[in-house]
Amino acid sequence: MSRSAFITGAARGIGKAIAERLEKDGIRLIRPSRSELDLSKPDSVDDFCRLNSIHPDILIYAAGENFPKPIEDTSIEGLQQTLQVNFLSAFRLMQATAPEMRRRKWGRIVMISSCYSFLARPGRVAYSASKAALEAMTRTAALEFGPEGILVNSVCPGFVDTELTRKNNTLERIQTLAAGTALGRLANPDEVAELVAFLVSDKNTYLTGQSLVIDGGFSIQ
Ligand SMILES: NC(=O)c1ccc[n+]([C@@H]2O[C@H](COP(=O)([O-])OP(=O)(O)OC[C@H]3O[C@@H](n4cnc5c(N)ncnc54)[C@H](OP(=O)(O)O)[C@@H]3O)[C@@H](O)[C@H]2O)c1
Repeated sequence: MSRSAFITGAARGIGKAIAERLEKDGIRLIRPSRSELDLSKPDSVDDFCRLNSIHPDILIYAAGENFPKPIEDTSIEGLQQTLQVNFLSAFRLMQATAPEMRRRKWGRIVMISSCYSFLARPGRVAYSASKAALEAMTRTAALEFGPEGILVNSVCPGFVDTELTRKNNTLERIQTLAAGTALGRLANPDEVAELVAFLVSDKNTYLTGQSLVIDGGFSIQ
């Protein structure tokens, strides 16, 4: 049976790699650009859902932002903005798409989180808080939706070679981070996409409510 997936953040980086990987599995994609669905705006998801009837079998939330700032320099507005993009819009999309998945008695939801949901790094207060919230939501959703055949998971990448990583780290820092993994390198976005493709497939029948860390062994040391 051909499935459909709604994916955010599919224009670049990890989201784009996931979209391309799912297309190979014959999954039909709904992948709005930022100009069609700006996740930083509180009403954007509601407005988008009112104008477009979206009933995907699969929801993947890959959009995210990270503007590192020390705690004293972080404004409430800045904190709210990161929470809006990284968590609140994900919550709203989940609310909007779950009822039809429940009716069909099949659904897969994946939230792209980060190893910084459980590790700390200076300047990541807003980012870490938003990703930790995403994973708490994942566990609650897994319990609430499980009886209707909806499996919900978070994926926590370590360091992936994308624009976001290059924007927030110097070349020297990237080399240090790569050396800190067991594999001695950053991940390629396709490697994260492969894990997500499994999680949203029919092959995944029992894995739910988890935060799956894909960090090349960075967090084991
Ligand atoms: N890269 C890493 O090492 C890493 C590690 C751990 C977790 N992650 C997570 O993985 C996800 C993807 O990261 P990435 O590295 O692929 O980042 P990226 O290359 O910067 O791509 C981010 C994507 O999110 C979209 N986006 C950001 N703000 C948006 C908004 N307000 N409305 C709509 N779309 C918005 C961007 O849209 P535009 O193209 O329009 O800008 C882009 O498509 C994020 O959630 C990130 O936190 C990344």
